[in-house]
Amino acid sequence: MNTAEIKNSGYIVKDDLITGTDLESLQAFTRNSIEEFKGRNFRLYDKDFDNSIISSPAFNNKIDSFIQNIIKNEYPEFSNKSSDIYKVLRVVAGAKQKEQANLFHFDAHLITILIPIIIPDNANNKNGDLVILPNIRRVHKYLILNIIQKIFFQNKIVRKILSKFSLKNFLDYKILKLKVGNIYAFNGFTTLHGNMEIDEGSVRATLLVHAYDIFKNSSIIKNNRKRSIMKEVKNIQ
Ligand SMILES: [Fe+2]
Repeated sequence: MNTAEIKNSGYIVKDDLITGTDLESLQAFTRNSIEEFKGRNFRLYDKDFDNSIISSPAFNNKIDSFIQNIIKNEYPEFSNKSSDIYKVLRVVAGAKQKEQANLFHFDAHLITILIPIIIPDNANNKNGDLVILPNIRRVHKYLILNIIQKIFFQNKIVRKILSKFSLKNFLDYKILKLKVGNIYAFNGFTTLHGNMEIDEGSVRATLLVHAYDIFKNSSIIKNNRKRSIMKEVKNIQ
């Protein structure tokens, strides 16, 4: 695997990590949850994954060695730091699909892994393609700068502008058509990212694994994340 792609093209795609059996388990767990939530949009975290494949050691070891490989080759300065893993299952399964699109943001973690579980295949291309704008900012630990960058990039006006296709010619703007069975990795801290629109009535489910929290010791970020989980704030992931 050429891990340098995370810096060169902004992302890595790997097609031999998720097996058919993994996918079946991920899809079964997701479909059960969709039934429970009766077709609404939802997110699941930590404890919600107990007794599912998402918390199984075999599955996690595989993801972890993928992450470690990227860290060892591309971000050796992080190799002696412990990795905080933050997982989110994000399901868009109901109405208000539009509100779930173009929520461009930066993550607080260095590595973001995206595992497509259910991806629609609509002819109108409203399939929630992943949009990434790599290297919009640098890795840094300044909390105030982080807040300023988030206020600047994650507001409604900038998000609206970024959702326009015409910008493609001016920015390093990549649209990734997600394929079930693949696994995607990018630097979520430096890459501004979001997803395109999903057609009404379509289901899109992705598992997001975040590793190496840049603001690990910040209580503000920790509390903010806790509050977001409680409130189900849409723009954190
Ligand atoms: Fe994200």
